[in-house]
Amino acid sequence: MRILITGASGALGRHLVLASPLAEDELLTPSSSDLDVTDERAVVGCLREFEPNTVIHCAARIRSRGADSPEQRLAMSRVNVYGAGQVARAAKEVGARLVHVSTDFVFDGSKPGGLYRETDVPCPLGYYPLTKAAAEPLALGCPGALVVRLSFNESWPYPRAFSDRFTSKLPVAVAAHQLALAAKSELSGLLHLGGPRRSYLEFARTLGADVEPMTLAEVDGPDPLPVDTSLDTTRWRAHRHGTSSDA
Ligand SMILES: NC(=O)c1ccc[n+]([C@@H]2O[C@H](COP(=O)([O-])OP(=O)(O)OC[C@H]3O[C@@H](n4cnc5c(N)ncnc54)[C@H](OP(=O)(O)O)[C@@H]3O)[C@@H](O)[C@H]2O)c1
Repeated sequence: MRILITGASGALGRHLVLASPLAEDELLTPSSSDLDVTDERAVVGCLREFEPNTVIHCAARIRSRGADSPEQRLAMSRVNVYGAGQVARAAKEVGARLVHVSTDFVFDGSKPGGLYRETDVPCPLGYYPLTKAAAEPLALGCPGALVVRLSFNESWPYPRAFSDRFTSKLPVAVAAHQLALAAKSELSGLLHLGGPRRSYLEFARTLGADVEPMTLAEVDGPDPLPVDTSLDTTRWRAHRHGTSSDA
C-alpha cells in the first residue's frame, strides 16, 4: 500500500514511520517545507501525484498551556483546522482513506470517572483543543475516514506529576503502533485508543521517570486543566478481539 504520513518528523510521526504494521508499505513522509498542509495546491498536487491508498494526518501545531498571542492562534487554526480540511478534501478527491489524528483534549475532563466514549460530545477547554475538535467533522467529511483520538508521551520531563489528574496516555511507540494497526483496519468514524485509566503520576512512573506527586490545587494559571480525559477504548478492543461494539 502507498501511505502518505503528514507530520512524520513530529513526536508521533517519528515512531509511526517505524511501526511494524507499516513495514511492507511504501511511505511518503514529506516535511512541512516539502508539503505545507495549509497550501491547498501543494496538498492536492501531492496526493494526485503519489495516489496514496491511505493518508495518516499527524501534522498539527500543538501546545500545552499558557496564553496564546493572536498570531499563534491564527497559525494554530490554519494548520489544525484549515490544513486538516485541505488534507480531507484532497483525500476525498483521490479516493484515499483518511486517518486523522485527534486528541483526548477535545473533552473537558469533567465527566465523573472519565472514560469518555466515542459517543460523548466534545467540549474543549482552551484554544488548541478547540482547533482539534473543529477539525474532526472536516475529516469525517471524507468518505470512510477514521478519526483517532489518543494521547501519549515520549518521556516525562518534569520532576512532579499529578496524583489527582487522570489519563489513558500511552508511551508514544505504543500509540504509534496502535495507530498503524487502526490505519490498516477497515474501521471508520471516531475511534478512541489508549491505555488504562490512571493518574499522571502512575503513567509517568510507567515511563521510568523518578517523579514526586503533586495535586491540581497546587497549580495556578490562566487555563483550567482538564481533570480526567481518559478514553474508553471498548470499540478498539472489541475490534481487536473480533467482536463488534458498534451495535
Ligand atoms: N503530543 C501530544 O501529547 C498529543 C496528544 C494527543 C494528540 N496529539 C496529536 O498527535 C498529532 C501529532 O502530534 P505530535 O506530538 O507528534 O506533534 P509535534 O511533535 O509537534 O509534530 C508536529 C508535526 O506537524 C508538522 N507540521 C506543523 N505544521 C505543519 C504544516 N503547516 N504543514 C505540514 N506539517 C506541519 C511538523 O513539521 P515540522 O517539524 O517540519 O514543523 C511536525 O512534523 C497531532 O495531531 C496532535 O494534535 C498529540
